[in-house]
Amino acid sequence: MVNKITVVGAGNVGATCAHEVARMDVCKEVILVDVKDGIPQGKGLDMWQTSSLLDFNTRIVGSTNDYSLTEGSDIVVITAGLPRKPGMSRDDLISINAGIVKEVTENIMKYNENPIIIVVSNPLDVMTYTAFLAAGIKSNRVMGMAGVLDTARYTSFIAEALHTSPRLVQAQLMGGHGDTMVPLPRFTTVAGIPVTELLDEPTLNKIIERTKNGGGEIVQLMGTSAWYAPGLSAAIMVEAIAKDTKAVLPVCASLNGEYGLHDLHLGVPVVLGKNGVEKVIEIDLNKEEKDLLYNSALHVKKIMKVLDDMNMFPQKYGKDTL
Ligand code: LAC
Repeated sequence: MVNKITVVGAGNVGATCAHEVARMDVCKEVILVDVKDGIPQGKGLDMWQTSSLLDFNTRIVGSTNDYSLTEGSDIVVITAGLPRKPGMSRDDLISINAGIVKEVTENIMKYNENPIIIVVSNPLDVMTYTAFLAAGIKSNRVMGMAGVLDTARYTSFIAEALHTSPRLVQAQLMGGHGDTMVPLPRFTTVAGIPVTELLDEPTLNKIIERTKNGGGEIVQLMGTSAWYAPGLSAAIMVEAIAKDTKAVLPVCASLNGEYGLHDLHLGVPVVLGKNGVEKVIEIDLNKEEKDLLYNSALHVKKIMKVLDDMNMFPQKYGKDTL
């Protein structure tokens, strides 16, 4: 249990996340911040009115860009930024969302010395790096939410194919949040049985491709991006940190030599606890899995270069060590 959790952005993802966090009763107060007037307050009030129905105590306070209310936040979730429209890749959002994430992080840092920050805005891996540079705090305290969502999509498709309960499916998925993500069938089990024993390769490959396009499939259907699974996935990370569960989750984390990678944020399995990313777990990947991970890292580096060319962090940026 912690004191205060801030969610920045009261759009679909932010509001869903705030509600899920409130329902978990892991903090006394959720502050929901947005640039719009009335929306964070109204959604906050609506959520609070579910408290007796859902049996939770968390207070939800809406704020229109008044970051002083976020003072003393243990955890901050950043969902601010534009979502995708059909035909757009997550990377297409960088020019607008980088400025938003930088400004939001700077505002948070005016009132919080050492928060734990979870970034949800896209393009996820590079927005996590943006927040890390803007926050100027230790790298274990700034992370991104993608792997929990991508793994949830992957496990839901596996459960569907096997006509079994999604609860029985355990999986790891690595890499960036996009077409280059790396679902790992070798580290996927169903009730303890390797999934490779239960599904043939073409079926698994179809599931992997559908997972990679999981966000895009929903954008195509609705004209905007998903929010139930993304919002809850961020809340699951909040819960692990607030309750110090040491959960092993796929998280976009800063790599400083792990998997032979440096100076980038990428999806890897980590231990999440009260200090944020407490450990990056290095699993022994085979050559094919490593190649897929490096391909994903190269893609993230390419988008980092776009950020670099925007010259938002002239002193700190421009390293390329991959
Ligand atoms: C998705 C967005 C949130 O994957 O990136 O649905």
